[in-house]
Amino acid sequence: MTDPTESGEQSARHVWSAGRYPAMAPNMLPAIARLINVAGIDPGNRVLDVGCGTGNAALTARRAGAAVVGLDLAHDMLDLARENASLAGYDDITWLAGDAETLPVPDDAFDVVLSNFGHVFAPDSTRAGAELRRVTKPGGRVCFTAWSPTGVVGDLTEVLTDHVADSPSDPWSHLEWGDPDFVREQFAGAADCSFQRRLLEFRYATPHHFWREFAEESGPLSPVLRRMDDDDARAALRRDAVAALEDWFGDNAVRVEYLQVRAVVE
Ligand SMILES: C[S@@+](CC[C@H](N)C(=O)[O-])C[C@H]1O[C@@H](n2cnc3c(N)ncnc32)[C@H](O)[C@@H]1O
Repeated sequence: MTDPTESGEQSARHVWSAGRYPAMAPNMLPAIARLINVAGIDPGNRVLDVGCGTGNAALTARRAGAAVVGLDLAHDMLDLARENASLAGYDDITWLAGDAETLPVPDDAFDVVLSNFGHVFAPDSTRAGAELRRVTKPGGRVCFTAWSPTGVVGDLTEVLTDHVADSPSDPWSHLEWGDPDFVREQFAGAADCSFQRRLLEFRYATPHHFWREFAEESGPLSPVLRRMDDDDARAALRRDAVAALEDWFGDNAVRVEYLQVRAVVE
């Protein structure tokens, strides 16, 4: 259960403890590969990975020759990222605990700022967007991904809205970043944005397994779902969610639409 006396940052840390996320993280690798390609990382570039999780984007940037800093709210994610880096022999990546809304790094410090489904989860979108721009050099690139409101995550949101009446924060606000108009508004006058709509395939034997790992066991929805102590209500929600997922499921994969953004900072 989330403790109502926790501060916003403590509560976000609680939500984002690694849980079963490491099992799901490999599903993100194709998006990370595309993000690194679109960012255009040159050897020696300084790269920040915001919401680095288990470290996959940071490691990919390091492999491209960048000098990398990985940042996340959740300490246990950072522990896993350190282990992953050590496996690859990358002992020169800096891992920082911090919040996307108040990045603990100077202005204009990075050539490239990456966030693979990371900063979008910061509750104050405007602050998080401003921070990404602040720490990027003029001419540098902010490159990130966000779930699309018109894809499966949007459909699940509608199901959840029908079933979950009260939530301390809005666990679905991250979908704003999946709308190009919202992104343009955040970066207006400060960065030139380009967009690509993309698809990820999450490989599971059944939609039930996706629901458990994506929604119940990791990410911003998990505390909301865990707070549902009525078994019948949980079962009804799972039934409707799985029905919605059937539209996006085939060949042992859920197809998840997302937006890829490249913003060149002015
Ligand atoms: C969906 S995971 C993505 C992890 C990683 N980028 C990847 O692609 O595997 C979201 C990550 O963002 C982190 N996160 C959420 N809110 C954050 C915030 N306000 N500041 C920094 N990190 C945050 C979480 O702890 C989590 O590791």
